[in-house]
Amino acid sequence: MRAEIRELDESDLEAAGQLLAQRHRRHRERQPLLSPRFEDPETATEELRGVWASKDASGTVALAGGELVGYLLGVPKDSPVWGPNVWVEPAGQAVTGDPELMRDLYAAAATRWVEEGRTAQYVLVPATDPGLVAAWFRLGFGHQQTHAVRRPLDREPAVAPGVRLRLAVRDDIPVLARLDVALPEHQGLAPCFSSGETGTVEEAAQEWEEDWENPDFTTYVAELDGTVVGSAVLCSISQSSGNTSLIRPDDCGYFAFAAVMPEARGRGVGRALGELGLSWAGREGYAVVATDWRQTNLLSSRAWPALGYEDTFWRLHRTVGY
Ligand SMILES: CC(C)(COP(=O)(O)OP(=O)(O)OC[C@H]1O[C@@H](n2cnc3c(N)ncnc32)[C@H](O)[C@@H]1OP(=O)(O)O)[C@@H](O)C(=O)NCCC(=O)NCCS
Repeated sequence: MRAEIRELDESDLEAAGQLLAQRHRRHRERQPLLSPRFEDPETATEELRGVWASKDASGTVALAGGELVGYLLGVPKDSPVWGPNVWVEPAGQAVTGDPELMRDLYAAAATRWVEEGRTAQYVLVPATDPGLVAAWFRLGFGHQQTHAVRRPLDREPAVAPGVRLRLAVRDDIPVLARLDVALPEHQGLAPCFSSGETGTVEEAAQEWEEDWENPDFTTYVAELDGTVVGSAVLCSISQSSGNTSLIRPDDCGYFAFAAVMPEARGRGVGRALGELGLSWAGREGYAVVATDWRQTNLLSSRAWPALGYEDTFWRLHRTVGY
């Protein structure tokens, strides 16, 4: 039976919440570290209501035999960083049966998005659903960002010869500031070509000075042969604006930032910092650790999976019009 596609409205949210809860149940069969909360249809519906309440939310539903069999919901983000955009957030889509239906849902929803000028499009998809991911690939989307989780380590980090890890002290601020800038500098290069703004070292140092006492973040540095060459920032995942909704596991620590100076890369410092993040989370009593990376960042997209992180969500991206 061919599904009928029409615009999503508020009266669809409860049935859509049921589909989302089912999708999340399937997701957790593959990745049990995700929060069980969204397996509850009421919680899933509530999450969808939150997305629907955002300014300029719009989407489509598919109906077969009077039943909702799929939905797609997009919302724009205000930030200029993402261009003239629309986002399908972690709660923003589900289908029953053949994921090919997502292409029909997208075709109908994207007509409006593109008419509104929203040509930079971002979609969060469960990484463990190859059929759904492939449907998006057949719509011209590519893999931009990976969200991932794993259990903490119950031992101290292993460190390569010459590497020493320690808590950062205030005197480290000048090097911490340089390491802050090293990440966007790296991600501005091929093959990432990220357009995110690279602030100056002076601005980064100023921020460190102002925020030094902030108890929500723990900063470590890595020394190589006595010189600080790397840093890592750790916190609760509740500090992360990019890891919300169904992406965010319960009781979860967050490996928020790490960088190594270009001349010291590839010598085990990143692995030591990564393991440190996992040990820290264990010591803090978290059940899960999460992180995320640009998939086109050749360094982090190799380093963090090598530490045992498993993909949960992929952010896919398409720019329409060329
Ligand atoms: C990502 C980064 C922190 C890793 O630090 P590093 O010191 O270069 O990493 P390491 O030498 O410890 O290597 C870590 C793992 O990456 C992988 N890796 C490193 N270089 C690699 C290469 N050329 N090819 C394939 N895998 C590679 C290996 O799996 C390695 O683990 P191993 O110990 O099992 O060999 C560092 O490269 C960096 O600062 N990059 C720029 C900023 C950045 O991307 N930050 C992270 C943002 S999410």
